[in-house]
Amino acid sequence: MKTPAELPILMSQRSTLTKDLAISFLMQQGVENPDCLSLAAGLVDPETLPVEETLRAAQQVLATRESGIRALQYGTTPGSAQLRSELLTYFADLEKCSTESLGIDASQMILTTGSQQLLSLVCETLLDPGDICLVAGPTYFVFAGNLAGVGARTVTIPSDDQGMDPAALDHALEQIASMKELHRVKLIYAVSYYDNPSGVCLSTSRREQIVEIAKKWSREHRILVLEDAAYRELRYDGEEHPSVWSFDQERANVIYTQTFSKTFSPGIRVGFGIVPKDLVTAICERKGNEDFGSAHFNQKLIATVLRSGEYQGHLAKVRDGYRLKRDAMLAAAQKYFSDLPGVSWVHPKGGLYVWMTLPESLESGFDRPLFSQAVKHGVMYVPGELCYAGPVEDRPRSQMRLSYGVLPVDLIDEAMRRLADAVRETQSARTSNDVSS
Ligand SMILES: Cc1ncc(COP(=O)(O)O)c(C=O)c1O
Repeated sequence: MKTPAELPILMSQRSTLTKDLAISFLMQQGVENPDCLSLAAGLVDPETLPVEETLRAAQQVLATRESGIRALQYGTTPGSAQLRSELLTYFADLEKCSTESLGIDASQMILTTGSQQLLSLVCETLLDPGDICLVAGPTYFVFAGNLAGVGARTVTIPSDDQGMDPAALDHALEQIASMKELHRVKLIYAVSYYDNPSGVCLSTSRREQIVEIAKKWSREHRILVLEDAAYRELRYDGEEHPSVWSFDQERANVIYTQTFSKTFSPGIRVGFGIVPKDLVTAICERKGNEDFGSAHFNQKLIATVLRSGEYQGHLAKVRDGYRLKRDAMLAAAQKYFSDLPGVSWVHPKGGLYVWMTLPESLESGFDRPLFSQAVKHGVMYVPGELCYAGPVEDRPRSQMRLSYGVLPVDLIDEAMRRLADAVRETQSARTSNDVSS
C-alpha cells in the first residue's frame, strides 16, 4: 500500500497542454555554461535599469502616510484609476491625437502584470479547445505557448520584411471558410512593432489591410486582431507607424497591448490593454479569478514617473543605448557572416532582436550539431524553430533569434565572432562528411 506521498498527483487535462521545455532547456544551458555569452536571453539591459528614478518615485508615492497607505492597499481588478487616466493621455500622445478623439474611456483600459497577463487573459477569455488563432510565422514563442495551453489551433501566415502578409491572411481565411470552420476563428495575433523574434515592423498599409480583413471575415461573430505593441517605443530609426488599433474606427475589432517592461523595468512589470467595450467585463471577470488586481504599488510608481516626465527622460537614454547595441550587432554580422554563403539577416529599426537565416542544410535546433558547437565556443542563441506555432515538422529549421539586449557592445562583437566560428566549423564538418560518404 502506497503512502499518500507516493501516490501520483492527477493534473488537469488543460495543464498537460502546457509545455515549457525549450525555455527550461535554455536556462539550464545558461546555468551549466556560466561563461557562455548569451544572445538568447530577451532580458532588458541591466545597465539601463532605472534604480534612481524608481527610488525617487517610491519616495513620492510614500511621501505621506495617506498616499503610502493608498498605494500599499489592494487596488481594483482593472487597476489604479490614476494610472488608467494617465495612460489615456500617454496613449493619445503616441497616437498623436487628443484623449477625446481616441474614442474610448478609461473603463476600456485594463492594467495587467506585464502585457503577458493580458495575452494570457485574452486566450482564456476567447479560446476554447479547437478554436483558431492566425499568427505570423515566425511569432512570439511565449504567446504560441499560451495558445497551445488553451488547446487552440494555430494557422501560420507567412511574413516578410513588412510583416504578416495580408494576401496570405485573406487566402487562409477563405480556405478556412470553405472548410466550414470560420466559426472557430477568434483571433489574429500580430506583434506590430519590431517583432519578437523577426525584428520586422508591420508596414502601415498592412496594418490597415489586416483590420479590413478581420472585419471582412467577421460574418456571424467578430474576429479580433490582438495587437501586441510591446516594442512600440523602442524605435531607433525609420518611420513612425500608427498602431493597427488606429485603423479600427469603430474601436470594436482590435485589442491593443503594451508594456513598461522593456522601456522602464520588467521587475515593476506593469502592462496595459485597451479592449473593445463589450469585452471589458469578460476580461475583468477572468482577471478577478486570477488576482483581482495587479500590484497596486507598482502601478503608482509608473503613474508617478509618467507624470513627472522621468519616464520620458529614461526612455530617451534606453533608446540611445539599444541603438548602439543594434548597430554593434549589425556591424558584427557584416564583419563575421557576410562571407558565408546563404546567410542573411534582418536589419531591425527597433526592438531587441536580429533574426538570422542560415542555409537550409544548417539546422539550428537544440539537438543539432550547430547548437552544441555554439555552446562549445561559448555562445548561445534561440533556435528559430521554437518561434513557430503549429506542428514541429512544418517549421523552418535553420534560423536563429539573436538578442542584443543584455550583452555590452564589446561582448556583442565577441559573441557574434564565436557564433560565426561555430557556423563555419559545423558547415565544413557537414561538407567533409558529405564528401566522405
Ligand atoms: C512580443 C512580446 N509581447 C509581450 C511580452 C511580455 O512582456 P511583459 O509581460 O514583461 O510585458 C514580451 C516579452 O518579452 C514580448 O517579447
